[in-house]
Amino acid sequence: MGRLDGKVALIVGGGADGPPNKGETLSIGNGRATAILCAREGAAVMVADRSETLAGETAAAIRAEGGRADSAAADVTREDDCRRACAAAVRAFGKLDLLVNNVGIAIGGRLLETTIEQFDTMANVNVRGQFLMMKYAVPEIAKAGGGAIVNVSSLAAIRTGSGLPYETTKAALLGLTRSVAVTHARDKIRVNTILPGLINSSMVRRLVGDREERVAPRIPMRRQGTPWEIAKAIVFLLSDDASYITGTELIVDGGLSAR
Ligand SMILES: NC(=O)c1ccc[n+]([C@@H]2O[C@H](COP(=O)([O-])OP(=O)(O)OC[C@H]3O[C@@H](n4cnc5c(N)ncnc54)[C@H](O)[C@@H]3O)[C@@H](O)[C@H]2O)c1
Repeated sequence: MGRLDGKVALIVGGGADGPPNKGETLSIGNGRATAILCAREGAAVMVADRSETLAGETAAAIRAEGGRADSAAADVTREDDCRRACAAAVRAFGKLDLLVNNVGIAIGGRLLETTIEQFDTMANVNVRGQFLMMKYAVPEIAKAGGGAIVNVSSLAAIRTGSGLPYETTKAALLGLTRSVAVTHARDKIRVNTILPGLINSSMVRRLVGDREERVAPRIPMRRQGTPWEIAKAIVFLLSDDASYITGTELIVDGGLSAR
């Protein structure tokens, strides 16, 4: 018995945009690991990504191990794409129960180094995109009788060091999550945020390469997390194991923020 048996999950940003880790052939990031684990727990998975190729790779990996998955191209900065991603999940699998908003990019730096264009792009992708996805997913999830949403934020929401636009947009997700959680508790929709610390993900390998040796000494557990550890925490929040948890944040950081 899987913890998500009978559920339909939409994983947005479910590709993995970056080189594979040492010893892996398929690149794994937080979104792709989440999509694969949701399927292993019994969910039918719609993988949405602005890259049709990356979304297709994730869906193919799920099907290769016997799971149910399909993919859709969707750029979260386009309202119509957000609407169509939800519709694609319902069309393929008959309903929508679960949404994971994993899309997140990192551009810009400190206040005086960040351009207005960079700030606008970050707000569009990292916050407005999640807002739009929830706007279209929530009515479908309510129609299905309730479900759960996880928004992927970052430790940068509560700690500095990752650049102003990233810190600002990741912090905004906490407010967005709380607001939707409280409003839609009556629809039996739980909404939570996950705050990953330093994770050896496709995104990080693309942006900064292998940082393990450099960052591990700073982390109480002396290593970066894996995308699979983020995915396990997300699956927990999506599942009935988290049946009384809504409107809150789960930090998954190997103790980094406790220092
Ligand atoms: N790796 C870390 O250390 C770390 C730490 C904290 C938070 N995070 C968060 O984890 C998430 C990303 O993790 P990942 O490993 O899956 O990264 P990733 O970059 O490999 O995957 C994200 C996917 O989102 C897609 N995407 C980008 N812009 C999009 C858009 N406008 N519309 C639709 N899809 C879009 C990309 O094509 C990519 O496939 C982000 O929200 C990031 O902020 C990561």
